[in-house]
Amino acid sequence: MAGLRRGGTWPAALALGLLAVAAALSYFYTEIRPTVIFGLRDDYAHAIPFQPVPAGLESIRAEDCGACHREIYDEWKTSVHADAYDDPFFQAYWEKDDRVWVCLNCHTPLANQQPTLIQSIPGNRVDKAVQVANPRYDAAYQREGVTCAACHVRDGVILGPFDDSAAPHPVKYDPAFRTTEVCHRCHSVVSGPLQFYRAGPCGTYAEYEGEFFMRERGFTCQHCHMPDVSRPAAANGPIRQGRRHLWRGGHDPDMVKRAVSIQVTTDPPAPVPGDTVEMTLKIINAGAGHTIPTGDPDRHFTVEFAVTDGEGRILREQRDTMGRWILWQPVILEVYDNRLRPLASRDYRFAYRIPEGRSDLAVDVRVRYHILTDGQHAMLRDSYGLQSDRPYRYTIYTRRFPLGAPADADAAPPVAKARTACAAPHTKATAG
Ligand code: HEC
Ligand code: HEC
Ligand code: HEC
Ligand code: HEC
Ligand code: HEC
Repeated sequence: MAGLRRGGTWPAALALGLLAVAAALSYFYTEIRPTVIFGLRDDYAHAIPFQPVPAGLESIRAEDCGACHREIYDEWKTSVHADAYDDPFFQAYWEKDDRVWVCLNCHTPLANQQPTLIQSIPGNRVDKAVQVANPRYDAAYQREGVTCAACHVRDGVILGPFDDSAAPHPVKYDPAFRTTEVCHRCHSVVSGPLQFYRAGPCGTYAEYEGEFFMRERGFTCQHCHMPDVSRPAAANGPIRQGRRHLWRGGHDPDMVKRAVSIQVTTDPPAPVPGDTVEMTLKIINAGAGHTIPTGDPDRHFTVEFAVTDGEGRILREQRDTMGRWILWQPVILEVYDNRLRPLASRDYRFAYRIPEGRSDLAVDVRVRYHILTDGQHAMLRDSYGLQSDRPYRYTIYTRRFPLGAPADADAAPPVAKARTACAAPHTKATAG
């Protein structure tokens, strides 16, 4: 009898238990730990309000601004800002995040560019926002990503850095264009509930404040990301001191090379078979006003040493990573961050004993920059429709050091240096 009763109770208890766990998990993920990796702050919690076309213009499309601001348009068109929506990496990640609305507030920030409008955000929770269809949504305009008007058009007026323009459209001087304020909204992200980041996921701004380049040299983001230029700001206008609209960053190998200075030394300088050679690679953040890598948490550097023989076989390998490690579940916790702050440096060491009688060996030293991790890239490709063959990692430094070659007369210690900073005269630029 007891056995019978038990037979009836155990499965029921188990089912109840499982149900309770499911309910607790669901409560945790909907009420406590948000599914979105961003917290909300007043400014980017909302789209930039709908912008009507300023008097004197036919539209606010970038291409139409380009009729008079041709060079600026051509530059912008090649920039990551112009690609912020079509960008295949963005599209794949957005797919993974169920195309949640908040991403659009930075990637296509104007209400004119968004299919829905947010009516309210109960509890300041992204996943609880109440949305309605946007009757003025312009799908072609959405594809312009961070378009001219995102920064320049407000309430029928074009805002800019000058106070004396003679333009065919209303203009207003806005001092924010000469400060980092104009970048803050999108390049500074706050953490949400149960998220413990040191600096938010795209939080370049927070890494920059109070650092050398800003404090001692008065640099803004524009100094490095929008190089200055003298030219007419508009067709047939006077020559002005303006800025190129390029915004090069992690997608541009030359820009990344500018951030770092790399030096490799070997000890002894001319090793022979039987020696243990010790190599030191020093990497300095000589040219970025913020940590390197910055922004998106996937970004990282790898520092690689590989001993190869005459046939190209790899005998020994070492690979170190510089970036941040984040535990995504069950809460977001930044476990560790070994990125380099401005002007900081780090030594990576590698030791190898050259076998007797081998003079065909060499050490290949390589530093690579990764936009995505290999794992994330594979996941986006396999599960979220990433098709692009756009590179997601590239070599920024490589050099081969022969081991145990017969001693040369001019065997100076091999010292190699990558190009130095866009703006770092404090690092002596010696030719490598
Ligand atoms: C028909 C030509 C024309 C079109 C179209 C046009 N502009 Fe202009 N814009 C000008 C001229 C001319 C000036 C003044 C240049 C000067 O004084 O050096 C100007 C000035 C500016 C300035 C500087 C304002 C300041 O005072 O700091 C900005 C920014 C600007 N335009 C942005 C835009 C944007 C964005 C668009 C598209 C929405 C646009 N323009 C469309 C001709 C045009
Ligand atoms: C991400 C924000 C952003 C976007 C997008 C943007 N600009 Fe600018 N723009 C700036 C900033 C910042 C400056 C001020 C540069 C300076 O200090 O002179 C500027 C300056 C200008 C000027 C004044 C001349 C100059 O070179 O300083 C014009 C004209 C202008 N932008 C037009 C455009 C047009 C046209 C587009 C789209 C094709 C565009 N901008 C897109 C931020 C932006
Ligand atoms: C309206 C939002 C917005 C504003 C304002 C803005 N950005 Fe961006 N920025 C973005 C987004 C979104 C991306 C990433 C686009 C992508 O990769 O899909 C980006 C990318 C970049 C990148 C390139 C990163 C790479 O991966 O290569 C740089 C550099 C950059 N921004 C600098 C600036 C600077 C400097 C300013 C201020 C003058 C600024 N941005 C203002 C939204 C913005
Ligand atoms: C002293 C020059 C300098 C200053 C100042 C500077 N940057 Fe950078 N920035 C760089 C260099 C060089 C890189 C390339 C290295 C990299 O991508 O890690 C870079 C990379 C970036 C990237 C690309 C990150 C990615 O994910 O690929 C972004 C975004 C960015 N900067 C935004 C900003 C913003 C916003 C500011 C102002 C708060 C700023 N930068 C100030 C030099 C600078
Ligand atoms: C507060 C503004 C903001 C919001 C909200 C935002 N992003 Fe971004 N995103 C950026 C900026 C700025 C960058 C530029 C690079 C960086 O900081 O690394 C970027 C870069 C990216 C990149 C890297 C693109 C590349 O080519 O490497 C991806 C992917 C991305 N965002 C996806 C998303 C998704 C998905 C969401 C929504 C869940 C989202 N972003 C929400 C500002 C934002």
